Amino acid sequence: MLRSLDDLEGISKIDAGNMLGAINRFPDFLVDAAHFSPLDVRSSLFVHNIVLMGMGGSASAADVLLDWLQDRIRVPVSVVRDSELPRFVGPKTLFMAVSYSGETAETLAAFNEARKRRCITAAVASGGRLQTICSRRNIPFLQVASGLVPRAALSQMVGAGAVMMQSFGVVEDVRVGLLEAGHELIRIRGQLRAEVPLSRNRAKQNALRLRGKLPVIYCLQHMSSVARRAKNQFAENSKVVAKYDLLPEAGHNEVEAWQGRNPHILPVLVHDSKESREESTVFRAFKAVLRKLGEVRTLEVRTGASSALGRLLGPVLFLDYVSVYLAFLRGVDPTPTTGIREYRRLYATARR
Ligand code: F6R
Repeated sequence: MLRSLDDLEGISKIDAGNMLGAINRFPDFLVDAAHFSPLDVRSSLFVHNIVLMGMGGSASAADVLLDWLQDRIRVPVSVVRDSELPRFVGPKTLFMAVSYSGETAETLAAFNEARKRRCITAAVASGGRLQTICSRRNIPFLQVASGLVPRAALSQMVGAGAVMMQSFGVVEDVRVGLLEAGHELIRIRGQLRAEVPLSRNRAKQNALRLRGKLPVIYCLQHMSSVARRAKNQFAENSKVVAKYDLLPEAGHNEVEAWQGRNPHILPVLVHDSKESREESTVFRAFKAVLRKLGEVRTLEVRTGASSALGRLLGPVLFLDYVSVYLAFLRGVDPTPTTGIREYRRLYATARR
């Protein structure tokens, strides 16, 4: 059993798959991704809409791309997490498959369907069948480094996905943004890594507050990628059920559910470091109602990252650390995901 979150020897015994090491490298992968060279492909003139398709950790990368870049792209962009494609997907769709393993059944099925519908296709992966199909058919492909579990490759997948979108001319140079965010994340890592003691480490402090609780994560709508990623990381790393909702919408419905004290759930409010006055008012009003209805005390996340991408990936990194510290407190190795493996096996077998 772990003596405390400052017991590094105890942590390394629990963390057999070295998830902490992978999270520590998250900022470095982002800096590396800024050095991907854009590919020489068709121009954006053909593109009327963009679909980013993936599952799980790879879909989280697609969500971050959407939140980061949609204001810079002149056509509609959507994220699809299904083998079935929406009706509008066709020859003027830029369809980018995002799959770390390149072996995910839903992603491969959707990619094949996109090819049948004559979409403009592209893919990002570390290898697998997705890479094989792309190299046989001369489809633009960017390869990220292999050897991680998919959710730990988020920053690489975001970097490669952004450079792929730049290659098609749908967005201008993304590499400065990747570098800026990478440097901000290096600073945030310096405050949260395991060597920083509990007395000064906000990720460890938050993990302690979350022990034995169900985290309910709230973000502004334009940071939904962060909220969903955090929920997934609590599930996959800490093996804890979590949920998320978005503001201001939650102020119009979910806020009612906080009537009366429930010591087993804890709201986690994830702030944007460049919140507008209007957005701060939304948070303040929401918090005031939680206090009034249920005397609920919130847990607040702020990272101070100020670049457009850092404002998303800063809180992602922060909550990644919280999720692994919570796993250690529960005596759980964050890396193995036996449930996902079994689900993938059963699904793939049934499809054959
Ligand atoms: C496991 C993980 C999963 C996978 C998902 C899809 O670490 O994060 O959510 O991301 O099963 O697999 P890939 O990303 O390889 O397409």
